[in-house]
Amino acid sequence: VPGSANGKLKFNPIAPVASTVDDFNVPSGFKWEPIIRWGDPLFSSAPEFDINNQTAEAQAQQFGYNNDYLTVVPDPDNPLRGILVNNHEYINPALMFPNSPLSVEQLRVCMMATGLAVVELERKKVGGPWNYVVDGRRNRRITADTTFELDGPAAGSDLLKTKADPEGRFVSGTNSNCSGGYTPWGTVLSGEEKFDGFFFGRGTDEEKRYGIKNKATSYGWERADDRFNANVPGFENEAQRFGYVVEVDPEEPTSTPRKHTALGRFKHEGANIHVDPKTGKVAAYMGDDQKFEYMYKFVSSKNYIEGDREHNKTLLSEGSLFVGRFTGDTPSLIDGSGRLPEDGEFDGVGEWIQLTDGNKSLVPGMSIEEVLVFTRQAADKMNPTKMDRPEDVEPSPYTGKIYAALTNNTDRGMGGTFARPDEANPRANNRSGHVIEITEDNNRVDAKTFTWNLLLVCGDPAGDEPVYFAGYDPARVSPISCPDNVAFDSEGNLWLTTDGAPDKIQKNDGLFKVGLEGANRGKVEQFLSVPREAETCGPVIHDQEKMVYVCVQHPGEDGSFAEPHSYFPDYVNKKNKWFKKGQAQSTLAEKHGVLAHPRP
Ligand code: FEO
Ligand code: CA
Ligand code: CA
Ligand code: CA
Repeated sequence: VPGSANGKLKFNPIAPVASTVDDFNVPSGFKWEPIIRWGDPLFSSAPEFDINNQTAEAQAQQFGYNNDYLTVVPDPDNPLRGILVNNHEYINPALMFPNSPLSVEQLRVCMMATGLAVVELERKKVGGPWNYVVDGRRNRRITADTTFELDGPAAGSDLLKTKADPEGRFVSGTNSNCSGGYTPWGTVLSGEEKFDGFFFGRGTDEEKRYGIKNKATSYGWERADDRFNANVPGFENEAQRFGYVVEVDPEEPTSTPRKHTALGRFKHEGANIHVDPKTGKVAAYMGDDQKFEYMYKFVSSKNYIEGDREHNKTLLSEGSLFVGRFTGDTPSLIDGSGRLPEDGEFDGVGEWIQLTDGNKSLVPGMSIEEVLVFTRQAADKMNPTKMDRPEDVEPSPYTGKIYAALTNNTDRGMGGTFARPDEANPRANNRSGHVIEITEDNNRVDAKTFTWNLLLVCGDPAGDEPVYFAGYDPARVSPISCPDNVAFDSEGNLWLTTDGAPDKIQKNDGLFKVGLEGANRGKVEQFLSVPREAETCGPVIHDQEKMVYVCVQHPGEDGSFAEPHSYFPDYVNKKNKWFKKGQAQSTLAEKHGVLAHPRP
């Protein structure tokens, strides 16, 4: 890609990297190093990681597996200290253990390897690399065993009671924590996404709408803990206690994290907050990541109060939940060709359809508790727009415009009654996904109507998919496929990570900068690429410090314990000096006297 990026973080875009390459690539002039990886001890009481002797007790004090959402926040009063908060979405037992099926203790290791981590950081100078602090005051692991409090209108509902929690108010643990958001009041939101995969269901319609199957799960947690099996009397409702946005206060390591029922229950990718600068009203924007699912917005009843942390921590407990409907202005655009409409833009108007008003349901035939626990079924009744897998939905802190990554949907337009393309999801067999830009009417976070347009229809301009880059010359952009996570730099540029590009365009996933304004609108430039079979997650762009942080999730995912497909990050030593592939293993073995095993 010709040309170099402008702005505070100047870089020459990297070339796309073939999907067979086990490398982490950054632009020339940049270097990289790992901050923390699976098994690193957060506490001095934890043993050093030993892949051949993993215990649940050790893992509960060590960094977890498969990192997705990430935030890195320097302390306001001391920029040489800070925190890192990270989601551990799921596990890859075939890479973690040499045997299968797993023992009950190994299943417990998996339960302790998921959830979240809060880790203190320190650095020698602003803009320098961070090191994590063992025994940092705020260090915390949140796992499948951590107690969460349900709040909002469905807390205490019969739908949320189990024999372990007859009050329906306290849940053990969280799982499938995918993306998230850092709130203006300094807490972290985390989306419980593909929780269905952890529950052995009964085959009810409610379960089916969420993908829960009436059979043993591949993770097998139900062999270690009855509550993952809805067929065990007393645990019929356990899965209904997952699928929420959870809020964690990283400043208070002994605080009880909460599950906000007011934000509804679905496969939450994450949630991102926008505070209306004029009214102080707070909106949370959210996606339900599955083919043909919906986009949602929550608006708080109460207003944000600058500096009043305790008050602001109650904002997501009460408010109104809405689901999005997108109407195009070019009705003929239903052929699935992905061609540009006659008016030159994929665009139109939209409505936020209200599902709840505080403790009141606005959905015919459903109680408030039913709407918040069976939110997909509630939304189904209100005719919202079925989208191409909504991932991150994030407002720009600078303009208030909302950017949603619709990662892909290869079932769109391929048959079925609701599979037809529309202007907001214009491409049949949508392999590479798209990005939608939403402007709330009057720029109010509580608007019930909005306008929208597609910013990107992703793909490789040299490939066979029709692509669109907001009018920018496709010959001068980096190919991009399967947008997933969204971030902004200090100059208001959009940054996107991708998940799934290797399957779709045979290039490793990466991180991309996208211009939003003026002549650079739609200009896509690749900043980095992750190793083979990894997805890029949780980007944090500190362009003023010339630093970028990403999670490298599941490198070498299609390999096995015996035959790793990726050695990331073990092919870099402590001095950040590159090893040749293959050399890393022996060098580390020499150093540690053991055969090193990849630990993403
Ligand atoms: Fe966990 Fe929607 O990605
Ligand atoms: Ca149009
Ligand atoms: Ca994601
Ligand atoms: Ca993903």
